[in-house]
Amino acid sequence: MIVEVTRKAHFCAGHRYWRPEWTSAKNHDVFGACANEQGHGHNYSVEVTLSGPVDPITGMVINLAELDRLIQVHVIERLDHKNLNTDVPALAGMIPTTEVLAGFVWDQIVSRVAAGRLVRVRVGESEDLWAERCDHDGPES
Ligand code: NI
Repeated sequence: MIVEVTRKAHFCAGHRYWRPEWTSAKNHDVFGACANEQGHGHNYSVEVTLSGPVDPITGMVINLAELDRLIQVHVIERLDHKNLNTDVPALAGMIPTTEVLAGFVWDQIVSRVAAGRLVRVRVGESEDLWAERCDHDGPES
């Protein structure tokens, strides 16, 4: 029996959308209020979904304590209360959108769980906006 299990966590972070090679007018045209100079923050949610057989001994798809540790060390501690434009080396030079964050979280987790177990990462910026990276999205381009 294959089951999906999802763990949800939370972090707070700030960002600004801005391409330095563009004019101010183009930045504001493309990014709207997200281009405002002082940036702004969000209370993000992150959901990590793994699938696999239910271990008959533990009743679990993955040891939840281990999954919690992976999310805490490799996602929350790297993003929580950070300026996403300046404080996260892996995001340097990128526009730290929800989509980009979903890819970041995927990359942090996928290499640290058994192959094929990570099926979906969802990052929510608000209740009205989220992005997902799924295992059928194909290789990173
Ligand atoms: Ni924003």
